Amino acid sequence: APSENVNAPGLNFNAITPNKADAVTVPEGYEQAVVIRWGDPVVPGAPQFDFDKQTPEAQAQQFGFNNDFTDLIPVDGKPDTFLMVCNQEYTTGTAMFKGYKEGDPTENQVRVEMAAHGITVVEVKGEPGSGKLTPVLGEYNRRITASTEFELRGPAAGTFFTKTTADPTGTRVLGTIANCSGGITPWGTMISGEENYTNYFSGTDKPPLDGLKEGWKRYGVGKDEDAHHWMKFEDRFDLSKEPNEINRFGYLVEVNPHDPKSTPIKHSALGRMKREGGNIYVTPTGEVVTYCGDDSKFEYIYKFVSSRKIQPGKGAAAMESNMRILDEGTLYVAKFEGQKVENGTVPEGGYKGTGKWIPLLTTKADGSAESHVEGMPAENVALWTRVAGDKVGATKMDRPEDIEPNPKTGKIYCALTNNSDRGTEGKAGIDTPNPRVKNKSGQLLEITDNHTGTDFSWDLLLVCGDPAAADTYYGGFDKTKVSRISCPDNVTFDSHGNLWISTDGTNATFDSNDGLFGVVLEGKDRGLTKQFLTVPFGAETCGPVVRDNRVLVAVQHPGETDDATADKPTSHWPDGGSSQPRPSVVAVWKKSGNIGS
Ligand code: FEO
Ligand code: CA
Ligand code: CA
Ligand code: CA
Repeated sequence: APSENVNAPGLNFNAITPNKADAVTVPEGYEQAVVIRWGDPVVPGAPQFDFDKQTPEAQAQQFGFNNDFTDLIPVDGKPDTFLMVCNQEYTTGTAMFKGYKEGDPTENQVRVEMAAHGITVVEVKGEPGSGKLTPVLGEYNRRITASTEFELRGPAAGTFFTKTTADPTGTRVLGTIANCSGGITPWGTMISGEENYTNYFSGTDKPPLDGLKEGWKRYGVGKDEDAHHWMKFEDRFDLSKEPNEINRFGYLVEVNPHDPKSTPIKHSALGRMKREGGNIYVTPTGEVVTYCGDDSKFEYIYKFVSSRKIQPGKGAAAMESNMRILDEGTLYVAKFEGQKVENGTVPEGGYKGTGKWIPLLTTKADGSAESHVEGMPAENVALWTRVAGDKVGATKMDRPEDIEPNPKTGKIYCALTNNSDRGTEGKAGIDTPNPRVKNKSGQLLEITDNHTGTDFSWDLLLVCGDPAAADTYYGGFDKTKVSRISCPDNVTFDSHGNLWISTDGTNATFDSNDGLFGVVLEGKDRGLTKQFLTVPFGAETCGPVVRDNRVLVAVQHPGETDDATADKPTSHWPDGGSSQPRPSVVAVWKKSGNIGS
């Protein structure tokens, strides 16, 4: 814990002490309640959760597994009522089913898993005098699963590489999987990134065409361990039978939560990667800029500058027009420049430098596109964007996770979570934005961007890890007075302009649970980092949402350890007793007053 409790606007609470409790631990004077758990009814008429009798039909109407990005969209005319959007990233058969045989799932188990993926829209309602939120089985509620139809748009759509036996048009894709972080657009839709989708495809590691070897290698196709074995029951996940199905994943997806019958979109104009998520900044003159990270070791940071502006109004015509904003514009990749660095020696004032956005692809309204990369046709840039980044010499980063503009200042914040391979044999060495060999604790990057232009400057706000160690930096703040933080993942902002960071992997650095932290960005207290909560043993902290009157976190994979199974769970959160752990969204609020007041 910090040596003394320093307060700042919005961060006026006693920092909590790191721990390994099987509980969500919140500061003194705060309360909490689960909003929704894996298996809770979402769609009107959905059955109650029955752990011992799960069916795909029930799961497709219930809250999915392993909630990640979460946000609240206010419902017009209903005070303290929201459409809560939440994605469900992945499933772990051993944690979901008793007697699950690893590598040999039953058809029921596979189809339950497919239905437990995707995105949930669920109405939630507040309670006067508390921050509690309760699900309402309302008309907007919806489950999008690994089987829901999407429209694929942009330069990858309708090409040879996106056509399959079931979809000769190459534009109608079933499902979204591996959705990690995300964001809410200014026009009221949810965007979400398809991240580790290659984990779901197997059958061969040999591409059908020699020309695809580089692309398959760059994305690890056929190499990643397929823990799901969906190909046992659906040919589309078998690369030897349907080698193009995999090319229909890895996109930024967009869902209109205000119309439960609407077809969600995959936008290929923003390229294809193991995408963490996406977040939008709108310039004072109405230009729309989307920032995205590709979360693998040594991958890149991207932005997409739309050529369309936002259409005002909330009607169907405005929504239809606005849901085309991400189909038209230019995709860029980031190249960083900084001083030479020595491993682990933080220079006076921290690490900083400048950078350039290098254009890769410009897409027009009709989906036709122009490549800016020599020797790569436009559709290849959209499909194998990593290869395009390689060709233009983009900077290999320490796993870009969530990246989001601060609505108060327009500065961009990107969590670089860790990279155990940095500087090891045959891999890229250290550079200023990625200054540590075998980086296990990560860093938090601040970019001051000329949003529609091609120049930026940057600064490492945090070099995470043990504050007592010489290789860490907390924005220049006195390191004896901060909460330790490691492995930043999702980020958000409060109304004071503070940055909030949720973590994934703290136990690898500190042998304690993950959590949620507030960080002061501006003024004399810049770098002050305070831990607001911890999540249960084995869980990752996701979400997060920080409003004046409540905080939400999505508790992902509680009890997940190498030897945990549904027969021998290592967590009993949130139901207690000897129950199975259930990934859940939790609301936290202050008994009296606003968060951090
Ligand atoms: Fe799903 Fe990049 O964490
Ligand atoms: Ca993440
Ligand atoms: Ca975020
Ligand atoms: Ca992560």
